[in-house]
Amino acid sequence: MFKILVTGGDGLLAHALRELQPADCDLVFLSHSDFDLTAPARMQEQLDEIAPHVVINTAAYNLVDHCETERELSWAVNAVGPQRLAEFCARADIRLVHYGTDYVFDGKKTSPYFEADTPNPLNHYAGGKLAGEQAVLRTSTKHLVLRTSWVFGWHPTQTKTFVHTILRAACKGHELKATTDQVSVPTFAPDLAQWTLELIRLGATGLIHAVNDEGVSRYDWTRAILEEAVRAGLTPQAPPVEKVTTAFFNSTMRRPTYTVMSNEKLTKLLNHRMGSWRPGLRKMLAQMK
Ligand SMILES: NC(=O)c1ccc[n+]([C@@H]2O[C@H](COP(=O)([O-])OP(=O)(O)OC[C@H]3O[C@@H](n4cnc5c(N)ncnc54)[C@H](OP(=O)(O)O)[C@@H]3O)[C@@H](O)[C@H]2O)c1
Repeated sequence: MFKILVTGGDGLLAHALRELQPADCDLVFLSHSDFDLTAPARMQEQLDEIAPHVVINTAAYNLVDHCETERELSWAVNAVGPQRLAEFCARADIRLVHYGTDYVFDGKKTSPYFEADTPNPLNHYAGGKLAGEQAVLRTSTKHLVLRTSWVFGWHPTQTKTFVHTILRAACKGHELKATTDQVSVPTFAPDLAQWTLELIRLGATGLIHAVNDEGVSRYDWTRAILEEAVRAGLTPQAPPVEKVTTAFFNSTMRRPTYTVMSNEKLTKLLNHRMGSWRPGLRKMLAQMK
C-alpha cells in the first residue's frame, strides 16, 4: 500500500485524484492552509508526521496574468517552494511527483514539443514553473515531473474555469471571441490523475509530457465545448464565435502560441493511448448538468 500525500488538496487535479479512490493507495490530502509551499518549517513537520512514500504536488500559483504583478509570491510558490519540497523529500527518501506546464515553451515550433526540446519561457508564470520543475529534477533522480496543458474537469467549487465561462456566455446568448493562433492540448483532470497513479506504480522518474491526444486552437476548443453543450442539453444553441488572434486582446504579457506537447513517451511507458479530451469533456458536461 502506497501512502501518498497530495498537496493543493482543494484544487482541480487533487479533486480528480480524490475521486479515483485507488484500492492500493492511501491518499492524504492537505490544502493550502495546512501545507503551504511558502512555509518550509511547516512543510517539514507535515512530512515527518505523515511519513508518505510519495508526495504528489498539485499546488501551484496558476493565475498566469497575476504572476506578472505578484512576482515575488508566484516565484515563491512555483519555483522556491517545489525546490524546498524536493529537497525535504529527497532527504527522507520520498518520491516527489510535480507538475509543469506547456508554457515553458516559446511556441515557435509548428510540430509537437518533445521532452528534449529546449524551453524558453515568455512570461513570469512560465519562468517560475520552469525553475520549479528544473529544481525538482536536479534534486533527485527519483523525482518525476509531468508537464501538462489546459487542464479541465468538474470541481464542486470551481465555477470560473474556461468551460464555465464559455457556457455562461452561451446561456446568455453572448457572442464569443476566441483565438485561432493559441494552440495546445486540453487535458482532462481525471485522465491526468489516473496516469499519475499508473506512473507511480511503475516507478517512473524524470520528465514526461502528460496530455491527452489532439491539439486544438482556443477557437476549436471553444467550438467543441459549445457543440458538446448543445448535445448534452445544457444550452439550446451555440452562439457565434468570432475568430481573433492573440494580438486582438492587446495584452502586455507575452503568451506562447503553439504549445502542443507530444505524449509519445507517456504512451510508450504506460503501453496505452492517452485518448482524446472529447470523452472527458462529455463527462464533465454531464456532471455539470
Ligand atoms: N490548470 C491548468 O490548465 C494547468 C496547465 C498546466 C499546468 N498545470 C499544473 O498542474 C498542476 C495542478 O493544477 P490544478 O489545475 O489542479 O491547479 P488548481 O486547481 O489551481 O489548484 C492549485 C492549488 O494550489 C493551492 N495553492 C496556491 N498557493 C499555494 C501555496 N503557497 N501552498 C500550497 N498550496 C497552494 C491553491 O489553493 P488556494 O486556491 O486556496 O490558494 C489550489 O488549491 C499545477 O502544478 C499547475 O501549475 C495546470
